[in-house]
Amino acid sequence: MRDKLLAILHDSGSSYISGQEISDKLGISRTAVWKHIEELRKKGYKINAVTKKGYKMEYTPNSITADEINAYLDTKTFGRVVHSFDQVNSTQIPAHEAAREDAPEGTIVVAEEQLKGKGRMGRPFHSPKGTGLWCSLILRPSFPPQQAPQLTLLTAVAIAEGVRKVTDLPVDIKWPNDLLIADKKIAGILIEMQSDPDEIHAVIVGFGLNINQKQEDFPEDIQSRATSLAIAGAGQYNRAQLLAEILKQYEYWYFRMLEEGFGPVREKWEALAVTIGKYITAVTTRKTLCGLARGITKDGVLLLETEDGKIEYIYSADIHE
Ligand code: BTN
Repeated sequence: MRDKLLAILHDSGSSYISGQEISDKLGISRTAVWKHIEELRKKGYKINAVTKKGYKMEYTPNSITADEINAYLDTKTFGRVVHSFDQVNSTQIPAHEAAREDAPEGTIVVAEEQLKGKGRMGRPFHSPKGTGLWCSLILRPSFPPQQAPQLTLLTAVAIAEGVRKVTDLPVDIKWPNDLLIADKKIAGILIEMQSDPDEIHAVIVGFGLNINQKQEDFPEDIQSRATSLAIAGAGQYNRAQLLAEILKQYEYWYFRMLEEGFGPVREKWEALAVTIGKYITAVTTRKTLCGLARGITKDGVLLLETEDGKIEYIYSADIHE
C-alpha cells in the first residue's frame, strides 16, 4: 500500500493532492491515508499537509527500498522481489545465496552501501553509502552457458537506455562492460554464473551506477576516470526511479533476446557503443593488441583489426584508446 501511496505522491509532483482523492485511488479511508503519511514521515519523507488542498511531497530520502522501487516499477517480473540492505560486503553474495535458494528470475538485491564491492578481474568497486545504485539481478536464462557473455552487452544496453530515458544524458558503452559519459566511467557490470558445463542455473548480474556523488567523493586514484550522473547532469537524481527504468529496459531487451536471439540487442549495442570504429589498445591477460575495433560478432566477441590487416577475436580485455 505504501508503495502505491508513494507513486501517487510522486505523480502529483509539485501539486497538492487531496486526502479524498488519495483515499479513492487506494480504496482506503482518509484516516488510513493519514496513518500511512505518518509512517512515511517517520522514514524521513517530508510531506506537506494543507487544509482544503491536501498533501504534497516536499522531500524524499532518495533511498533504495522495496517501497520506493515499487512506486516507480513498470515491469512484469524484474524487480518484483527485492532484497534490500543498508550495508553488505557485496550484493553479489546475498544474490548468490538467494539464487541457490530458488529465488525467482528478476529478483534483485540492492544495498545502500557495499564495503567490499567487487569489480571485474578481482578489482575493488567503490560503492559509498546512499549515492549510487549497487544492484545484483538474478536471471535464469534457458540458453547454454557459452551464450552468457551476451548478457554483459545486454546489461550495458539496459543501463544506457534506462539512464538516457530518465536523465537525457548521453551515455556511451565501452566494450565489454563499462558505461561512460564524456569518456569517464559512470557504471560497471560484473556477471557471475551458477552453472553446469551445459546448463545455467542462475546468472547473477551485478551492476553499479554512480548517481549522486560529487567529484571529490571518488578515491583519488579514480577521480580523473570516474564521474556520476549528478556531475554530468543537473542536480540530484532519484535512485529508485533510475533503477525502475533500468529494470524496465532490461526486461524488454532480455525477453526479446530470448525470443529473437542476440541480433536486436547487438544492433542496439552497436548504436550506443563508442568503442566501435576507433583505434584502441586491448590488454588481455596474455597479450596487448593495438588496432581498429571493427565490431562485435553475433556472440558479443570484439573484432580487432591489427595493423597487418589480421582480425583478432577479443573475448575479455581492458580497452584503452
Ligand atoms: C567493474 O566495473 O569492474 C564491475 C563493477 C560491478 C559493480 C557491481 S555493484 C553491485 C554488484 N556487487 C558487487 O560487488 N559488484 C557489482
